[in-house]
Amino acid sequence: MSDIRCIGISTGGGDAPGLNAVIRAAVKCAILKYKWKVIGIPDGFDGLIWPEKSFELTLKHVSGILPRGGTILGTTNRGNPFRYRTVENGEEVLRDISPEIIANAAKLGIDAIITIGGDGSQTIGLELFQKGMKIVGVPKTIDNDLSSTELTFGFDTAVNTATDAVDKIHTTAESHHRVMVMEVMGRDAGWIALAAGMAGGAHVVLIPEIPFTIEKICDYVKARERFGKHFTIVVVAEGVKLPPELQENRRFGAVGNVVGSAIAAVSHKEVRVSVLGHIQRGGTPTPFDRVLATRFGVAAVDLIAKGEFGKMVCLRCQRIESVDFSKAIGRLKTVKPHGELVSAARAIGMCFGD
Ligand code: F6P
Repeated sequence: MSDIRCIGISTGGGDAPGLNAVIRAAVKCAILKYKWKVIGIPDGFDGLIWPEKSFELTLKHVSGILPRGGTILGTTNRGNPFRYRTVENGEEVLRDISPEIIANAAKLGIDAIITIGGDGSQTIGLELFQKGMKIVGVPKTIDNDLSSTELTFGFDTAVNTATDAVDKIHTTAESHHRVMVMEVMGRDAGWIALAAGMAGGAHVVLIPEIPFTIEKICDYVKARERFGKHFTIVVVAEGVKLPPELQENRRFGAVGNVVGSAIAAVSHKEVRVSVLGHIQRGGTPTPFDRVLATRFGVAAVDLIAKGEFGKMVCLRCQRIESVDFSKAIGRLKTVKPHGELVSAARAIGMCFGD
């Protein structure tokens, strides 16, 4: 029999569509299946630094939030309790405030915590677990680059948004005979760029995993011209590694602009650039993301009920499983340059600029 009476939930790092669906599922499961109390911890772990900000999450709080983007708890990608920035005697210092966090959780009557977040949040989860906190994780990132889960919720929604944008860019590119560059998110991995590029029928996809040159892209643009195709759509992941001669330009703005200007200079084509940015992080989650988020939320609560702490829920072979925090963090899942997805894209003529 579990000795849990009350759990806390926190969302940390950049938001992703589906966070509210996880919160809703965890709250409903905790209250309806286990009769536990649930405390919402606002803004990452800030609600444990200032416990007066934390509040009881009831069924009423989660009513109607399933289709809503963002997180009702708020989030932050600052506020790591092990390296917390404060100003002391006019100087910025990093302090370990984890003992306060753990003490405040106990004061709030929280027996165990669900942390919903990316690699950074799960790393904090591991450190808190090592200090004795009962904690489980739910993986989140639109980038889909966490190695121990096949998918993270938010990715499907982001790909839908980016694909819709590629579809829209397509018609105007064709009308004006232009090269259209669209920058999408993906700090370390090209999953969004590749999926949206394939789904939207983009011609060139630039991802961090495959080095490219402007010359190769422009040769491809020219080949399309010869074939009677006077427009080209280039999807570029924000994290691409620019060729050495362009690296200096990166500080002048978004990477899409740098790539677009370089293509214009070499190809002498008219080029326009769109940077999709945080639009990919917002909006209502797709049905797929809502279902995955719901399964993750329930699985996290079940882990707590079984006393399996220090673990993160994950998706493997379409099944919800769990993995130790220590195995879940620090390793990125990147696109395999010679994998099936890239091979399929190349087989239909997609150019990776290499
Ligand atoms: O990790 C997810 C992500 O969306 C990245 O693709 C992007 O680089 C980053 O977050 C942006 O973070 P911020 O909201 O802090 O600008």
